[in-house]
Formats: sequence, structure tokens, C-alpha cells
Amino acid sequence: MTTSSPTAPPTERVTLITGCTSGIGEAAARALAAQPGTLVLLGRSASKLAALQAALRGGAATIETIQADLGERAQVRRAAEALLATHPKLHLLINNAGVYNQERKLTADGVEETFAVNHLAYFELTLRLLPALRAAAAPDAPARVINVASDAHRASSMGWADLEKAQGYGQGWGAYAQSKLANILFTRALGRRLAGRGVVVHAMHPGFVNSGFARNNGWLGNLAMNISRPFQRSPARAAETITFLATSPEAGRSTGGYWANERPSTPTRAARDEAAEERLWAVSLERCGLSEPAL
Ligand SMILES: NC(=O)c1ccc[n+]([C@@H]2O[C@H](COP(=O)([O-])OP(=O)(O)OC[C@H]3O[C@@H](n4cnc5c(N)ncnc54)[C@H](OP(=O)(O)O)[C@@H]3O)[C@@H](O)[C@H]2O)c1
Repeated sequence: MTTSSPTAPPTERVTLITGCTSGIGEAAARALAAQPGTLVLLGRSASKLAALQAALRGGAATIETIQADLGERAQVRRAAEALLATHPKLHLLINNAGVYNQERKLTADGVEETFAVNHLAYFELTLRLLPALRAAAAPDAPARVINVASDAHRASSMGWADLEKAQGYGQGWGAYAQSKLANILFTRALGRRLAGRGVVVHAMHPGFVNSGFARNNGWLGNLAMNISRPFQRSPARAAETITFLATSPEAGRSTGGYWANERPSTPTRAARDEAAEERLWAVSLERCGLSEPAL
């Protein structure tokens, strides 16, 4: 292995993707498995991980797995430790795992699940993996973080007094939309901190996708998704924006952006509020028991 080369040879590239056992993440994993390097699949189901690992065998990438429920902080920490123990360099992190719950649910840690999985896990996993991302940074080939967000953020503002929606959870859209707004605020705050440090960060909207999304909500949730099927795109099409952000020179030259259909998109004013970005950052550090990372 050479250490003097500014760019990692393709075979040494390491990618970690969450939420890859279904939908958009699975489609992205299938596309990324065709590229040389190591692809680490992070999922909560051992059987789904094994099935996907077997399905991806024979591609150019070496496939590894880490089993972790991202709704539990201890498991997020252990997943990060497992990655760091085997891969001192991480070239690409894709935070994609997400839930939409029609009924309010708490994780084993007692945190509202949408907030825990869709936001806090993105935040904690990324911050814990920053040393490996920084180690992979090269002048002409930055390490990349991709946060799968959503245009659902357009209907949201941060409910600071009740981030876990203990009051007025309704059908769960408020919690979901807020979590996707949080993905963009986090992307911008992290992008600002890492500017000029060899790691770029992007948030993206995959479109309205025919995936496993919202199908954990009984017959009504399934009915809604089935009725809207003509308006949904395939997971493979949705994953194209992820692979674009993972590989394109253009996406390596900017940071902190929001993308849709392989193009920059402008998120709402609420998502471009630096005070909110920093407030969420401080709340998230505290909720995850982390200190401001030394960069
Ligand atoms: N579908 C859409 O129209 C749409 C639109 C905009 C944005 N998005 C975003 O796209 C991302 C992927 O969603 P999708 O549409 O592909 O949905 P999906 O098919 O339901 O996939 C969700 C993935 O997240 C994983 N996951 C959920 N909770 C987890 C946990 N506690 N720990 C670890 N993994 C967990 C799931 O694992 P299991 O297989 O074990 O359940 C699955 O692999 C989400 O962030 C979502 O917000 C989706």
C-alpha cells in the first residue's frame, strides 16, 4: 500500500452505507458494489444483511457487514467502533436509514424513534466516524458524507420546545418532516466545520420512491403507498443521485449543499437558518453525549 499517493487507489476505497436492506439504500448498495473497494453494509437485521451480502458477491467490491439498530445509541457507538477498528480510512459515508411511523414510538433509549433514527443516528455515526473520514481526505479526492434527506422538509420548521413530538404527534408527518429538515441543518453545520479539510458533505432528496417506506404502518399506510404508486419512481432511479454525489467531480468541489435529480436544489428558508443549524448541533451534541469534534 502506498501512502504517498494523494488519491486512494480504487481498491482501497471504503464506503459505509446505512439502511441498505431495503429500498433506496439497497439500490445504492447494488450500484456501489460494482465499483472496486470495500462496501460495508450497516443494517439491523442479520438475515437481511446476509442475504444482501450473498446477492452482492461477485461484484467488484468486497462486501462486509455491521449489524446495528440505529435507534439505540449504544449500538450506534458500537457500529462506529467496529468500522474504526477495521478501517482507519473511510472514503464515503451514506446516512440513509430512515423511518416514518404513523403512531408515535419510543426506542429502547426512550427517544421518539423518528428523531432518533432519522436525525440523531446520522449525527452520532458521522461524528464518531470523523477520524476515519479525515484520514481518508486527499486534496484532489475528498472523503464524502451523503445524508439522505427529503423535500418533506419543505413543510416543516424545528419544534424546539418539543423535538420529540410528545404533544400533537398526529399521523407522524410532523415528526418525519422535522427529521428531514434536521438532516439538511446538520449537513450545512457539518459542511461549514469541514470546509477546506478534505471532507465534503451533501444532503439530497431522492424523489417519491416505491420502496419499503411507510409500509410499517398497517393497511392504511400500505393503501396510501399503493394508490400513489403511479407517482413514485424506482429505488434504482432514486439511488442515481446518491451515486452521482458519491462519484462526480462536481460534488467533490462543493459542500453543504442540497441536491435533487443530480442537480443543486434550494432548500427552504428554515433549512438555511444558521442559528437553527447551530442550535440543532448543540442539542445533538448534548443528546449524544459528544463534545465538539477537534478538527
Ligand atoms: N421513499 C420515499 O419516497 C422517500 C422520499 C424522500 C426521502 N426518503 C428517505 O430515503 C431513506 C431511505 O428510505 P426508503 O424509502 O428506502 O425506505 P425503506 O425501504 O423503508 O428503507 C429504510 C431502511 O432503513 C432501515 N432502518 C430503519 N430503521 C432502522 C434502524 N433503527 N436501524 C437500522 N436501520 C434501520 C431499514 O431497515 P430494515 O430493512 O431492517 O427495515 C431499511 O433498510 C430514508 O431516510 C427516507 O427518509 C424516502
